[in-house]
Amino acid sequence: MTSQSPLPTAHCPLPLITFEGGEGSGKSTQARLLAERLRAAGREVVLTREPGGTPIGEQLRALVRKPALARRFHRELAGGDWQRLDPLAELFLMEASRAQLVAELILPALAHGAVVISDRFDDSTLAYQGGGRGLDPASLKLVNAVATRGLRPALTVLVDVPPDLGLRRKHGEQGRDAIGGEALPFHERVRAAYLGLAAAEPDRWLVLDGSQPVERIAALVWERVAALPAVQANIGHDSN
Ligand code: TMP
Repeated sequence: MTSQSPLPTAHCPLPLITFEGGEGSGKSTQARLLAERLRAAGREVVLTREPGGTPIGEQLRALVRKPALARRFHRELAGGDWQRLDPLAELFLMEASRAQLVAELILPALAHGAVVISDRFDDSTLAYQGGGRGLDPASLKLVNAVATRGLRPALTVLVDVPPDLGLRRKHGEQGRDAIGGEALPFHERVRAAYLGLAAAEPDRWLVLDGSQPVERIAALVWERVAALPAVQANIGHDSN
């Protein structure tokens, strides 16, 4: 791809693949396994995550997930509430991280011909800030489109698990963070929002039962990815 033609047109979809799911769904493992398999098949892959993925984004991630970490930088506010993040402030931290990631990493990688895999992308905002927090979906779509510069994934994999299973898995490993520590109904709403998004756009979404064995899920992801026109070019013949 030349610098005069940085990105393909809609006739040649961009190889951006995103993974979505609730807490403890196993999507990060699946994103990593797909990256490894594509690399083994000879594709250049950039694996990233949201929030985060850039130096600025990782700092925003720390603020969203563990707001109390910032306390040491602000001794004069020691008596304030370090856990309470306003839902709109949370939204704009997510969008700030996304805008940075798209500009700094994703668009250049796509222009370079890499397959980009993102562990969460803008559908997380529709599920968490929309379904979970109850913010207006139309407004969320608007700010998403601004932050992503209109970039859409060729494929979005939803690794679907019942929230009680996901939360048990997650809390067993890491303890609670601000969003993961929300009560079960919040996570039920997130899941319902994801399933609604997938049903509305079935060509883009692949919904997989996340309670299946990791290898089984990875095989189903690979089956779909290997058939994606945006990815097919340059996959080696020995990759099955
Ligand atoms: P994760 O690394 O376990 O996926 O954690 C990221 C957290 O951030 C998770 O609780 C979901 C949340 N999140 C949002 O609420 N909105 C967003 O737009 C994104 C990208 C993540």
